[in-house]
Amino acid sequence: MLALLSFMKSKKWVNRQKNDQFVKKAKQLGYVNRAAFKLEEIEQKFKIIENSKEILELGSSPGGWTQVILNNNTNPKITCFDLLDMKINNQDIIFYKEDFLKYNFNNIKIKFDLVLSDVAPNTTGHQSTDHLRISQLIYEVINRLEITLKNQGSFIFKIWKGEEEKEIIKILKKIFDKVEYFKPKSSRQESSEIFIISRGFKLHEE
Ligand SMILES: C[S@@+](CC[C@H](N)C(=O)[O-])C[C@H]1O[C@@H](n2cnc3c(N)ncnc32)[C@H](O)[C@@H]1O
Repeated sequence: MLALLSFMKSKKWVNRQKNDQFVKKAKQLGYVNRAAFKLEEIEQKFKIIENSKEILELGSSPGGWTQVILNNNTNPKITCFDLLDMKINNQDIIFYKEDFLKYNFNNIKIKFDLVLSDVAPNTTGHQSTDHLRISQLIYEVINRLEITLKNQGSFIFKIWKGEEEKEIIKILKKIFDKVEYFKPKSSRQESSEIFIISRGFKLHEE
């Protein structure tokens, strides 16, 4: 029964992919996934990538967001972290195949103008569990901003909506000048994902 259910689910997934205009468009434009369009829309509105030189990407594989960075910035230096391999590679990218939770970011001697997080746990399908899991990862990213982000830097991340969100926004409002929500058109309406754009990091100098 479980196997049948999961088969039906996967067939539904295949059909959805086939009919999805952003999946088609991604293939035509050479993007590795449709996630690229979400960051592209964020960039069209906020123009943060074009003004950022050093960029840290957490949860970077297979590399759709990295492609968007390369398309919107003529000379970026991109540092990527993921558990899985990237499909995109060039001289502007340094890739760490690492669990970012276990990595000591003090080893990276530079600070970044922009931290991007698209890290996501494997989903269970149980909305509040998935929300709590991604929130946990976001708290971990926020805890690392003091050592990764430059003063006045920006932070963009994805979260699945839920009860932790208010607390996260509250924390961000204390450490950034401006915090905004964004739901791109390319993000499926039925998806609870939302993007949070924070600008003007107030680095706590010692
Ligand atoms: C939605 S995908 C990222 C898609 C990517 N932004 C792109 O455009 O191609 C989420 C990624 O988070 C990664 N991830 C989850 N937990 C992680 C961790 N602790 N450290 C590093 N990467 C992690 C997963 O391996 C997965 O590739």
